[in-house]
Amino acid sequence: MKGIILAGGTATRLFPLTATTSKQLLPVYDRQMIFYPLNTLIKAGIKEILMIVAPEHSGQFLNLLGSVLKKYGVHLIFEVQKVPRGLAEAFVLGENFIGKSNACLVLGDNIFENDFSKEIRNFRSGGQVFAKKVADPERFGVVKFDKNGKALKIVEKPAQWISDYAVTGLYVYDNRVVEFAKSLKPSARGEIEITDLNNIYLKKGELKVKVFEGEWLDAGTFDSLLAAGNVVKEKQLYKNFHPIIDQAIKEFNCELKDICRKKLF
Ligand code: G1P
Repeated sequence: MKGIILAGGTATRLFPLTATTSKQLLPVYDRQMIFYPLNTLIKAGIKEILMIVAPEHSGQFLNLLGSVLKKYGVHLIFEVQKVPRGLAEAFVLGENFIGKSNACLVLGDNIFENDFSKEIRNFRSGGQVFAKKVADPERFGVVKFDKNGKALKIVEKPAQWISDYAVTGLYVYDNRVVEFAKSLKPSARGEIEITDLNNIYLKKGELKVKVFEGEWLDAGTFDSLLAAGNVVKEKQLYKNFHPIIDQAIKEFNCELKDICRKKLF
């Protein structure tokens, strides 16, 4: 299984914060947002991770993450996405990186309380997504279930209510995902939709939808960014990190302090 983190985009809703840095490098309580999706993948035992970033922020990502995880056997590869064309584009950009493997995509601004490493580790074929009941389903890809709880279809940002269950930003697919993603046509909003990809697997009867109840935070607005920091603090989600991430951050902090000391004397 290979991992992909999509951390591109301009995040205009967070201007002016994102005029100077990437959304995924903004702080969520005591660390940058990007450590959360990294944790999701590292906890699931994924050691090869493609980071898709915007060109103007690539240097910042490299400064933060370029060497901190290397000695723990986690290999990060950076790919620059000049223009974001939809989430499913991750599998087109990632074609060579994915090679013959399965792939797990996590959006760079998604924070989960749950640990989905068992589902990711046990994944064999088809697709697997994770759905959560939300108050504002019109903002998301939404799953319609039958009365036995079987997923029938997924609709991107439904204008008419179909259910309260949003598909969250963690997706696991088998290797066919690359070919399926390449076959997609842009939607009315001009994007290659992950929802279309999910519907391909769903129509084949090969998409698992796991409904969960823990916290799910996407920090895309001022309020949700603030809420994410508060929830992380109150629920102590910062304690859910894989030890190698905590250790890497600690070592990086020492290195930074050392550099500061040298500058002073
Ligand atoms: C995207 C997907 C949507 C999914 C959401 C999760 O929405 O298109 O299906 O539910 O991420 O965060 P977007 O961020 O493009 O509005």
